Amino acid sequence: MNLELTETQTLIRDTARKFARERVAPQARTLDREERFPTELYKEMGELGLLGVNIPAKYGGSEAGVVSYSLAMMEMAAADASTAVTMAVTNMCAELINAFGTDAQREKYVTKLTSGEAIAGSFALSEPHAGSDPGAMLTSAVKRGDTYVLNGTKQWITSGAYAGVMVVWARTAPTGNKGLSCFIVEGGTKGLIIGKHEDKMGLRSSNTVALTFEDCEIPAENLLGSEGQGFRLAMTALDGGRIGIASQACGVGRAALEAAVAYAKDRKAFGQAIGEFQAPRFMMADMKTQLEAAELLTLRAAYLKEQGQPFSREASMAKLFASEMSNKVADKAVQLHGGYGYIDEFPVERYFRDARVQTIYEGTSEVQRMVIARETFKLLG
Ligand code: CAA
Repeated sequence: MNLELTETQTLIRDTARKFARERVAPQARTLDREERFPTELYKEMGELGLLGVNIPAKYGGSEAGVVSYSLAMMEMAAADASTAVTMAVTNMCAELINAFGTDAQREKYVTKLTSGEAIAGSFALSEPHAGSDPGAMLTSAVKRGDTYVLNGTKQWITSGAYAGVMVVWARTAPTGNKGLSCFIVEGGTKGLIIGKHEDKMGLRSSNTVALTFEDCEIPAENLLGSEGQGFRLAMTALDGGRIGIASQACGVGRAALEAAVAYAKDRKAFGQAIGEFQAPRFMMADMKTQLEAAELLTLRAAYLKEQGQPFSREASMAKLFASEMSNKVADKAVQLHGGYGYIDEFPVERYFRDARVQTIYEGTSEVQRMVIARETFKLLG
């Protein structure tokens, strides 16, 4: 793996950094407090190519690869993890449709996602009683003429109230992983009911809702891939999605460390800046080491995916390590701020709240360990 960035990777990273610093960071605190979903930002991100970083130009993407995508996510998350997760899920939906869709589906839906016309994409896999175990889902899709009729409830759906394009999993056969299929559903389809808005600990300006499908009729041509292929599609998408969440965790970790260093230089106690004392310095040394280890794992997984090599295990290792890192680093950043870390005048309390979900969504740390163990046994067993 080459550690030097290419011209394209540098360009995407710098574009994302400029946008994140100028347009996103200044309003992150207000958006968080007001729980406001910043629709206007996603249109601008579409124009900049940030909603389809790893998508071919002919479908409106930047065609810049997975490493570029990871770097862009890190920049966005360092400014605002809420904006970053909306960006991540939108990129993930676009990649899934691009990988498994027909030309007509790509033409119609990938371009809507990459341009920002759809505002965001939603990934509707989880259900109230089926999170880590998607094979237990109950939502059904019944073929009726040239339509499928969807019934059931989805839970924890990022951007669900705003998404113009959703990928939705439903059962086309009664049991097991092999009974799952994946569908493209347009926001606003009759029978698609937006449910309860979740009042979350963190990521408060991202949107998370339940979705209910009540005799929701969609064209049969909106089946993505073939019937029964849904579980594989979900796993493939999540492998890539986990690189996105690992990148998000690296961005939050970096922001927390930078805030801690700035505070430690400024804050005086016992006659000197607290950053002069050995205990805070060692704490920050550990934070920096963990952050860089997470960045390297994440970029390696991105590199392997970009090269078309197997990367499930590496993506899970990156997601596991980076999300645990962001929680530790944000926790230490709060500690270094003392009482000021516990109030919203300083951003570290937001980083701490935003980091928390990273060990949970797109596969808990425990699910990542299952994937890592499974792949390690294949490799060494
Ligand atoms: N790529 C392609 N195929 C894969 C795969 C992968 N990464 N992983 C598994 N498969 C295939 C297997 O080859 C197997 O195929 P066969 O039956 O043909 O042999 C099949 O899928 C079943 O595999 P497993 O037996 O390993 O599956 P499992 O039921 O034991 O589950 C699991 C494994 C890793 C726990 C998986 O269920 C999983 O990842 N669960 C977590 C789900 C998750 O991450 N949900 C997050 C929700 S989305 C979200 O949070 C988005 C958001 O909005 C932020």
